[in-house]
Amino acid sequence: MQSSIKKLKNLENNFKNVVQKHRETVQGFRDDLNNIKKEINQLPYHKIEQWIMNNQSESLESYQDSLSHGQLTSKEWMVEKLPKGNDMYIEIIADNAPVVLGYSESSLYLEIIGGWFGCPLIDLLNTKLNIKKIDFYEKDESCKKILTQYLNHFNFNFEVSVFGDFFERKELRRRDLIINTSSEHMRDITEMKEYFKGNPAIAIQSNNYFEIDDHINCVNDVDELIIKNQIKNVWYKGSLEFEKYTRFMVIGQWYD
Ligand SMILES: C[S@@+](CC[C@H](N)C(=O)[O-])C[C@H]1O[C@@H](n2cnc3c(N)ncnc32)[C@H](O)[C@@H]1O
Repeated sequence: MQSSIKKLKNLENNFKNVVQKHRETVQGFRDDLNNIKKEINQLPYHKIEQWIMNNQSESLESYQDSLSHGQLTSKEWMVEKLPKGNDMYIEIIADNAPVVLGYSESSLYLEIIGGWFGCPLIDLLNTKLNIKKIDFYEKDESCKKILTQYLNHFNFNFEVSVFGDFFERKELRRRDLIINTSSEHMRDITEMKEYFKGNPAIAIQSNNYFEIDDHINCVNDVDELIIKNQIKNVWYKGSLEFEKYTRFMVIGQWYD
């Protein structure tokens, strides 16, 4: 039979082993977390956030909102449904029937209207489209400063020209794709139709979140969005439900 003192020694050893084992586990856990943190700190989105905290902290909440679940999901939805290439081809991007679609060029000239900070939309578009150039419209100067950070950190292989108010650029131009994810914040872009040559692809989102003061042009449903924006050739139309509102999207062309 084991003496009590021997039993105590054994239990003490067991105790030490258990402490040692958990110490190693905790240290491993800390190391793993630190490695993940280091990788996060290297990501452009984190670096931009750091810049905002140091230089323009009043924009932090808005920047974080631009990357929130609702905003990110809406941008991913648009990029998923956009046609991917040039030449007319048949694809099912709508829920029902195949449609003939396509851009006229393989390398695309885009306009992004009311682009906010540009992120994450430009990054997402770049994963799908072959972009030649973007004309980016944002009338808020503080947003443009953050866009500059975004462009510096991402170093895209295409040029982005930055403009102010979309409705003030009265210059005739030819574009392949016009994107407006901020339609609820401004007048209908059809006002500017005469400044676009050809038949560009148009991708527009709006919502029915009428309660927000800045939302001066909400719609009740996707068909209202189509009519207001005079989209004649509809490639895709749909809606996405969020907790407080529904977002609507149409992709198509102004002319048949
Ligand atoms: C709050 S943000 C974007 C919200 C939208 N849900 C999105 O995710 O893109 C709307 C932006 O549109 C910009 N904006 C509104 N009217 C504009 C105009 N006429 N030209 C350029 N930018 C405009 C505002 O300055 C603002 O930064």
